[in-house]
Parts: sequence; structure tokens; C-alpha cells
Amino acid sequence: MVGLQGAGKSTWVRAHLAATHAVVSKDHWPNAKRREQRQRRVVAELLAAGRDVVVDNTNPTPEDRSALIAAARDHGAGVRAVHLATPLELCLQRNDRRCGRERVPLVGVLGTRARLVPPSVEEGFDRVDVVVG
Ligand SMILES: Nc1ncnc2c1ncn2[C@@H]1O[C@H](COP(=O)(O)OP(=O)(O)O)[C@@H](O)[C@H]1O
Ligand SMILES: [Mg+2]
Repeated sequence: MVGLQGAGKSTWVRAHLAATHAVVSKDHWPNAKRREQRQRRVVAELLAAGRDVVVDNTNPTPEDRSALIAAARDHGAGVRAVHLATPLELCLQRNDRRCGRERVPLVGVLGTRARLVPPSVEEGFDRVDVVVG
């Protein structure tokens, strides 16, 4: 998954992938140290066990995504990007309606938007889907 905080990634995952895929997200371990390494290990373990996996994070840059693409390749899995390209204003409205630690500071959303590079097949994805929320 690729998209800003509040874009609707987790909602889309629940509707379209949760029945068939193991859902991995750093959001599941808000207090863990080395969450990136932990996520990579969990993804590799699931792929090794033959599971389909969806990684539900913002994944804004090619650098964020390259290890996931490599993990898929290592296990002979196809790899697809689903970009939730929801307009910024809508992401901010949805984020504002959230409670507690689910709500991300404004600078967090703006920072992700500043870094976000839309995913492309040139990075190694077999398929890129754009969902307009
Ligand atoms: N298609 C949609 N239309 C209206 N509201 C939505 C839609 N998708 C998600 N939301 C709402 O927006 C908020 C953020 O959605 P979420 O899926 O948690 O985003 P993300 O995982 O990208 O941060 C939630 O309150 C969710 O109910
Ligand atoms: Mg989410």
C-alpha cells in the first residue's frame, strides 16, 4: 500500500485484501523498537510460509518500497502497489476526525506528502493500481 495518513489504506485493505492476505503494518507495534527491521522479518517469514501479504503503511518513497519488492522477489512472489491517491484536503479532514494516537500531527501528513513519489512499474512492481478515495 502507498498513501498519506488518512487516505483510506487500512479501510481499503479491510474491504479488499484482509480475507485473503496477512496484513502487516508498523502501526500494529506502536511502541516497538526497530519497527522497520521487525516488519521486514515478519514479511519474510509470511512469504516463506507461502502466505499472501499486504504491507499497510504509507510507503511514500522508492527507498521505502525497495526492500519489500526485493522480499517478494526472493520468495518468487508477484508484487503489486495499490496507491490510495486521496486528495490532501480529504486526508486531513479524515485525520482530524480520528482520536488519540490514530490522529497524526499535521506536519506528519505534510511531510509524507512532500516525500511521496507515486509507485511505478520501473521500481519493480508487476502492477500498480491507483485508487482515488
Ligand atoms: N472511502 C472512504 N470514504 C469515506 N471515509 C473513508 C473512506 N476510507 C476511509 N475513510 C475514513 O477515513 C479515516 C482514515 O481511514 P484509514 O483507512 O484509517 O486511512 P489510512 O489507513 O490510510 O491512514 C477513517 O476514519 C475511515 O473510516
Ligand atoms: Mg492505516
